[in-house]
Amino acid sequence: MARQTGNGTPAGVAWWKRGIVYQIYPLSFQDSNGDGKGDLNGIRQRLDYLVWLGVDAIWISPIYPSPMADFGYDVSDYRAIAAQFGTLEQFDALVQEAHAHGLRVILDFVPNHASDQHPWFLLSRSERDNPKRDWYIWRDPAPGGGPPNNWISNFGGSAWTLDPATGQYYHHAFLAEQPDLNWHNPQVRAAMLDVLRFWMERGVDGFRIDVLWHLAKDPQLRDNPPNPGYQPGDADIRCLLQVYSCDQPDIHDIVTGLRAVLDEYPDRVMIGEIYLPVERLVAYYGGGRGVHLPFNFQLIEASWNASELDHMVHEYDSLVPQEEWPNWVPGNHDKPRIASRVGEAQARVAAMLLLTLRGTPTMYYGDELGMCDVSIPSERVQDPWEKNEPGLGLGRDPQRTPMQWDTAPNAGFSTGLPWLPLAHDHDTHNVDCLGRDPSSILALYRRLIALRRESATLTSGRYARVAAGTQIMAYTRERADERMLVVLNLGHAPDALALPGLQGEVMLSTRLDREGEKVSDRVELRGDEGVIVRMVR
Ligand code: NOJ
Repeated sequence: MARQTGNGTPAGVAWWKRGIVYQIYPLSFQDSNGDGKGDLNGIRQRLDYLVWLGVDAIWISPIYPSPMADFGYDVSDYRAIAAQFGTLEQFDALVQEAHAHGLRVILDFVPNHASDQHPWFLLSRSERDNPKRDWYIWRDPAPGGGPPNNWISNFGGSAWTLDPATGQYYHHAFLAEQPDLNWHNPQVRAAMLDVLRFWMERGVDGFRIDVLWHLAKDPQLRDNPPNPGYQPGDADIRCLLQVYSCDQPDIHDIVTGLRAVLDEYPDRVMIGEIYLPVERLVAYYGGGRGVHLPFNFQLIEASWNASELDHMVHEYDSLVPQEEWPNWVPGNHDKPRIASRVGEAQARVAAMLLLTLRGTPTMYYGDELGMCDVSIPSERVQDPWEKNEPGLGLGRDPQRTPMQWDTAPNAGFSTGLPWLPLAHDHDTHNVDCLGRDPSSILALYRRLIALRRESATLTSGRYARVAAGTQIMAYTRERADERMLVVLNLGHAPDALALPGLQGEVMLSTRLDREGEKVSDRVELRGDEGVIVRMVR
């Protein structure tokens, strides 16, 4: 690979530990053929940007053939590329060119469910005796009629759909168009493991595994208990606690099987999408036989205040087993954008937090521009969840709007009508304009990424919390004889951290004007400011 890691990177540290992952939602990144939807050639055109930004790997959300009921998370062929995204040849060219740019490529693997148009499901539903029947989860109606149990779909309504022709229900944790595969069936496992090999043979560097904790269900399919915390206006799925429908004990056996296949190829990474409390999340490391990185979504879920963030980071750092590697995810295509959650000023503080914590950072495309959620007029809604449960604020279109590149029509994303509307501020908030403004959030991201790449302390040094006030969060990163202090003001008013005996120099501030400033005994911060200080003592 042409581009190497920064000078400070310790030798022998796996790329997915020292690197930064950048999530591309392919429909929205770059359109190359004017159909208003992003595609593989579009991604290829933007590889130079990703190198300029400084990230190490791209994770591309699903690009397989799909009826697009859930925008690619309903796969109808696991071994091909959807025509709207390109061809297998174009995919191979993308991988090759990404590698030549020093970028790794991580694919989204969707093993829990396939499309109801997948040939496996068409056979499965064709007759009760079909050999593929058991590849999915079919059950007779409950004794008095109706679905076999009370499970609810993540997108609302029952998680069971009746197939009138064969008189049985099939289970779907998401849309009826996304029937769940039966991972208790060894043929399903073997077929899906071969899919991983197919893509690794093509040079893919790893996988982000969709809803990994869903793969194993209670063999008795017991009813889920009611959720006492459910409030009217919550998503339907919150009615019940997901006690039996996911995270069952035999999941770890399944994960071990996936990992063993990853280990057949050198230097690959397996990242699991898992929304669980931290104690259960860390079990997915599986003592070195599980996923390399169980996605840690706490930065998405935590309230944005110093004490909660401090407690959360400390607790997580201490729960990740010694020999395993942490990771952090502040945003993705399913959750409101970080800049909308914490505000424009704090989005800069969030960038510093993400890029100075111990653990692999995952960035979501456009967050480096401070992109916000875009309000979507009802006639342009695309997301099936919003369509199923309208008006509750569950829709995910707002965080999936097109990437803002420049001042050309449609922000340089497409020459056609974009599949989702663009943000109103795209004429000023785009890569071209922000890239030329040294005080922009994009410039800040670049400086933080460059510093992290150069610094072994920031990539792999120890983390220790520093007690601070109610508005400030502080911690050190330490390696060999180097120590860095990160001080973040989570509030809008100025504040200070007193640390008697501290001597140091500001390396980077979320504002521009402090680099090289000497600090002693205390660190003064303006509102919404964060600084990284190299400590002398
Ligand atoms: C998680 C994905 O991130 C989300 O976008 C999708 O709708 C569900 N899994 C179902 O595949």
